[in-house]
Amino acid sequence: MNQFEWPDNQPATFICQRKWQETPNCVSVTLVAENQDSETTFDFIPGQFITLGIEVEGKTEYRAYSLSSMPNQSELQLTIKRVVDGKVSNYIVDSLQEGQTVSVLKPAGEFHIEQPHGKRIVLLSAGCGITPVMSMAKTLLSDKTDTTDIHFIHAATELEQVIYHQELLEMAASHKRFHFDVMLENAQGSEYLEGRLTQAALKQFCPDIAERSAFLCGPIGFMAAMQENLSELGMNMDNFYQESFTPAESEQPEVALNLEVTLGSDADKAQAISNATVFVPAFGAQAEAKIGSALIDALEAAKVPVIAACRSGICGSCKCRVVKGAFTRTSTATLTDDEIDNGFVLACSCQVESDVEVALN
Ligand code: FES
Repeated sequence: MNQFEWPDNQPATFICQRKWQETPNCVSVTLVAENQDSETTFDFIPGQFITLGIEVEGKTEYRAYSLSSMPNQSELQLTIKRVVDGKVSNYIVDSLQEGQTVSVLKPAGEFHIEQPHGKRIVLLSAGCGITPVMSMAKTLLSDKTDTTDIHFIHAATELEQVIYHQELLEMAASHKRFHFDVMLENAQGSEYLEGRLTQAALKQFCPDIAERSAFLCGPIGFMAAMQENLSELGMNMDNFYQESFTPAESEQPEVALNLEVTLGSDADKAQAISNATVFVPAFGAQAEAKIGSALIDALEAAKVPVIAACRSGICGSCKCRVVKGAFTRTSTATLTDDEIDNGFVLACSCQVESDVEVALN
């Protein structure tokens, strides 16, 4: 076995080896490293994501996708769902070909199975949020020495949209410590329950749910509802972990070092209230931004080479530094205290509140 050596801070070239339809809205793909030998395997912690770079319409776009496969295998597996306006996801679903090369940044993320948890866990997911928890479940079950009791609860719109359905049924049939339940919005043609995952439904599926450790992944509305349900059911929220690749809400403004805002006439003031300039001296680049808009949009408009993989304040790929100006932040997920004090931000989770000057490092 040769463990694949991920380059630091730069993408490795991978090849799409296989692609298949997982559900009517989803495809799964496997990726192998270019020039890897038959002994090569990939290390990561189940629950982590990779950042994928794909050329779409002549430009390399980066997005983060959770791995659904297990560590130490000779390929990486992802499942990608079609989403409204999902430039990269929809390209993968419609156009990515077997044999095509893509760029991959090394696995990362703090939502993983090595977070402290008890001997009984609940894995809760909706839609494509199933991918990281699937990796966790498969990995725990494949370890003959592990005794974790796993309750896997998944929410989907209808039966044909349940990702990995057959595989999950087989896991439940062959492992006594794996329990699998599904809640469907429309259960026609299935024996699953129909409706929402209310507190009553969660208790019905898993009577001891409040005593378990929870790993939750899905759309942000689903996650907010599940967090509230679990908390109200009495779960110790120290044992609760979640991840969603969805932008968070804005918070109160912060002011970076050396705020300089000079306003002249009333017209200038009105203009300044709604518009700002984002200036990146190192690239001689600048762009206009609406007050309150995401810094990443202005950096991309200014054609500054910044990678934004998750666009949700999780992966850290869009880290940069606001040298001057006012901004708000909705995530500081991968930043150290020192970086936060020195004006580093995640551009996808940073809202422009005045003219700002930005450095990429
Ligand atoms: S793009 Fe991932 S943190 Fe900003």
